[in-house]
Amino acid sequence: MKIQLWREFLDPYDLAVKELITKFEHLKYEHKARGLYCPIEEVSGRVKSVSSILDKLKKKNLELEQMEQELDDIAGIRIICQFVEDIEKVVSIIRFRADMAVREEKDYITNEKTSGYRSYHMIVDYQVQTLNGPKTLKVEIQIRTMGMNFWSTIEHSLQYKYKQNIPDHIKEKLCNAADAIVVLDREMSEVRNEIMDAQNSMQIRANIVTEILLTIQNLYAVANKRDVAKIQDEFYEVYEKDNLEKLIRFHKNLDIIAEGYKAQGIEFKVWQND
Ligand code: GTP
Ligand code: MG
Repeated sequence: MKIQLWREFLDPYDLAVKELITKFEHLKYEHKARGLYCPIEEVSGRVKSVSSILDKLKKKNLELEQMEQELDDIAGIRIICQFVEDIEKVVSIIRFRADMAVREEKDYITNEKTSGYRSYHMIVDYQVQTLNGPKTLKVEIQIRTMGMNFWSTIEHSLQYKYKQNIPDHIKEKLCNAADAIVVLDREMSEVRNEIMDAQNSMQIRANIVTEILLTIQNLYAVANKRDVAKIQDEFYEVYEKDNLEKLIRFHKNLDIIAEGYKAQGIEFKVWQND
């Protein structure tokens, strides 16, 4: 296959990865904008490199013509979650989506691999639009916790270093580390509700502050400047008190004032990370 043909072949996969990253990022945004806990912590993706594709074909004794059919992970998406429980949520979100069809699921969390590898894999059919019309591709989605990701990243580097032949004493250490991650994930699950509460109120607070500041900015354009400056001072006073109830009340009162001027902070669309 010529270089140009590789590029032509891989371009739709590149588009699929880009689209899916955007879609999962948007899911994160939707949760955050509504003050909901988001089961997705981080999304990434990649198209398999030509050399990795060639290595895999060789390993599996396959011809170039078979790669589209036989390789599931030319396009790969990785979704990292905070807690094991979040993984099921992400899996059901994917199962219910109308823009991807699940072909296969592998639960390496219930059935841990002998290496110690844990992750939930889904192979989905996903359609992209190309110059030659629609094209349906397979995409591998790996869903795992931060802990599982930490382990598999390290183990993957070791596999690379030792050319798939990790010495036994290192394998043993990796198995112990994998057991430790299982314990870590379990312990974290036990404080999940408390963490979710804290993160939710942080998010709600951040959203409200954004809306208040936008409303004040909008009011500045239409109302008496001195009155708006007074409102802003009041806001800083409430803000410093660090009391969510008071902030919510201030927001409601401000909305009533702004309604009179049709100046509510409706444009708010800010990515809050902290
Ligand atoms: P492949 O032919 O390699 O795709 O095997 P498979 O079809 O049985 O797929 P499997 O679900 O086992 O693995 C797919 C992907 O999961 C791999 O390409 C890796 O990214 C990841 N994976 C699977 N097993 C391990 C493991 O033991 N360690 C690490 N670090 N990653 C793994
Ligand atoms: Mg595979």
